[in-house]
Amino acid sequence: MAWFLTAVEHPKIPEFEQLISAGNVAFNLVHAANALGYAAQWVTRWYAYDAEAAQALGARLGERFVGFVHVGTPTTKIEDRPRPALDDVVTYWSGQ
Ligand SMILES: Cc1cc2nc3c(=O)[nH]c(=O)nc-3n(C[C@H](O)[C@H](O)[C@H](O)COP(=O)(O)O)c2cc1C
Repeated sequence: MAWFLTAVEHPKIPEFEQLISAGNVAFNLVHAANALGYAAQWVTRWYAYDAEAAQALGARLGERFVGFVHVGTPTTKIEDRPRPALDDVVTYWSGQ
């Protein structure tokens, strides 16, 4: 499944927020697929940034790909990769 983002001028919603909202649609789709027992992955790949691919896939002028969400039946258990310690990558606001 692929879909496009058309950010528009809006008095209250900056383009940045429109973009992250579109990203959350993709992420929620991945969550929904997982909740239903499917495997899903959201990727962009080169064709998300290629004008010829955009035209072939039906993008209109000014539209950009949010990504491609691949949904299927899991055939293997995905092992997690090593993760950094949260304190190394997260900054907490102490209120001061
Ligand atoms: C917006 C977005 C685009 C991505 N595009 C690609 C891609 O083009 N190629 C790819 O191999 N993985 C892509 N991924 C997958 C990520 O590289 C990564 O494997 C995935 O987000 C899982 O993260 P984790 O390894 O931290 O669990 C993309 C992920 C996101 C969220």
